[in-house]
Amino acid sequence: MMKGSLLYEGKAKRVYHVEGQPEQLILSYKNDATAFNGKKKDQFEGKGRLNNLITSKIFDYLKQHNIPSHFIKELNHTEQLVAKTAIIPLEVVVRNVAAGSITRRLGIPEKERFNPPLVELFYKKDELDDPIINDQHAYHLTDISKEELDSIKDKALEVNALLANLFKQTGLDLVDFKLEFGRIADGTIVLADEISPDTCRLWDDKTGEKMDKDVFRENLGDLISVYKIILQRLEEHTCAK
Ligand code: C5P
Repeated sequence: MMKGSLLYEGKAKRVYHVEGQPEQLILSYKNDATAFNGKKKDQFEGKGRLNNLITSKIFDYLKQHNIPSHFIKELNHTEQLVAKTAIIPLEVVVRNVAAGSITRRLGIPEKERFNPPLVELFYKKDELDDPIINDQHAYHLTDISKEELDSIKDKALEVNALLANLFKQTGLDLVDFKLEFGRIADGTIVLADEISPDTCRLWDDKTGEKMDKDVFRENLGDLISVYKIILQRLEEHTCAK
């Protein structure tokens, strides 16, 4: 596996070509943490490794449950091999419990449960601070059809049920999370990007403690020790199976 040239550098990852494999990419997880669309920034030694290992475990689990994704395999502690996708510029957020932007936007108190879970769409556009959009906006702003958007939302809810169950078994309440989808070469839409404590809210189901990037956003403590606990609990779960 020969790492090729840098294709793109994002806030949390670098994306490299793979020599001789035009339909594959290498994602390299960085130690950078950003919040509030890059307005708050820091670096945490070991964060890239933790998010790579956690994302790899989660995509492996989803693969076992027949959720197609771009994930191929973990290459080393900070890198993974994925199928090349054209990312659809949508952030698909699923919420089980009110937290974060929805509490500010709609005045819903934190901790209120949503039954059934909510799906929200945001337009992935840094210059606009990723605004919330509706389905009609999504058809106009992206190349997806109604059938494709319906299937993305169904998939997001299916992923929610699987992840909520996984995290429950590790003593964590899955509050909300963000997914991204992309098209592989033949146009099929698959789950892409990462699923980690950077992109999920996870609360300890006994103490209610925040165990995710809110620790950084809200200066609640040591991010790395919290992310280490998430990885350890996922490892114990996969070993116990
Ligand atoms: O900020 P908000 O409450 O809308 O975030 C909902 C969920 O989506 C949170 O788990 C957050 O970590 C995730 N998210 C993300 N990337 C963004 C925006 C939100 O991973 N750009």
